[in-house]
Amino acid sequence: MNSVTIRLQPALACAWRRQTTRNSRRIRALQLPCYGASSTDLLPPVQTNLRHYCSGMEQEKGLLFRQLFESVSSTYSYLLADLETKDAVLIDPVLETVDRDIKLIDELGLSLKVAVNTHCHADHITGTGLLKKRLIGVKSAISKHSGATADILLTDGDSIIFGKHCLNVRETPGHTDGCMTLVTGDQSMAFTGDAVLIRGCGRTDFQQGCSKRLYESVHEKIFTLPGHCLIYPAHDYKGQTVSTVDEERKYNPRLTKSLEEFVDIMKNLNLSKPAKIDIAVPANLVCGLHDV
Ligand SMILES: [Fe+2]
Repeated sequence: MNSVTIRLQPALACAWRRQTTRNSRRIRALQLPCYGASSTDLLPPVQTNLRHYCSGMEQEKGLLFRQLFESVSSTYSYLLADLETKDAVLIDPVLETVDRDIKLIDELGLSLKVAVNTHCHADHITGTGLLKKRLIGVKSAISKHSGATADILLTDGDSIIFGKHCLNVRETPGHTDGCMTLVTGDQSMAFTGDAVLIRGCGRTDFQQGCSKRLYESVHEKIFTLPGHCLIYPAHDYKGQTVSTVDEERKYNPRLTKSLEEFVDIMKNLNLSKPAKIDIAVPANLVCGLHDV
């Protein structure tokens, strides 16, 4: 039970739970079609619109790390910075949370160097363009294969360096042509975008989606990382925040199957078109500043 619920009077707690359930169902109903959750993935709803996570465990490595959440599209953004130089990287910023992100960056005394997208998103508009406008010196980055314009076009083996830390690019196409997984230099964390979600994966039925390609990308570029490597996805719809390579190798209900079974599963998801795709994709091809 949520700790907030515990502190409420029983009647009030019941009403709060009913409202929370209704809100969560509404949010989930809007979003599940975007990222390949099937009806069999449905779990009891969770309160997701107040989440704001952080982690202190990386600090002994001199790395600042924050996991941030945007509730409308259930998108995670990740802020990483070198604690000494204050150079920072923001992964998958969302337009609607740019104010929050800038405030945090300011409060922590960081200097944002790169705003990078793991791929050209279909469900939300990236905050990259607005961050570039609002913060001096920020460079946008995305895969060369995304078809999008950006200051930095990345390919397999490239690195984004911030202070003494870096994120290494592993191309993981399949959800889109330009999907990348960003891996920290010590291979302790992988930001998988929509290639691997926690116990799921991105859908492959729009943009340049290809199930076979996604399966091969995951098995060759993500599941070959150390088992303890933490997996941080671009989205989660169930309140999950992190997984590991080992966990997903063992328990991912799709990616543990054979290639043929995986292709069949993905072919039969019968998902509806993402609500924002016609606005988000063209906007994200130009850093998100499309009619904004
Ligand atoms: Fe996506």
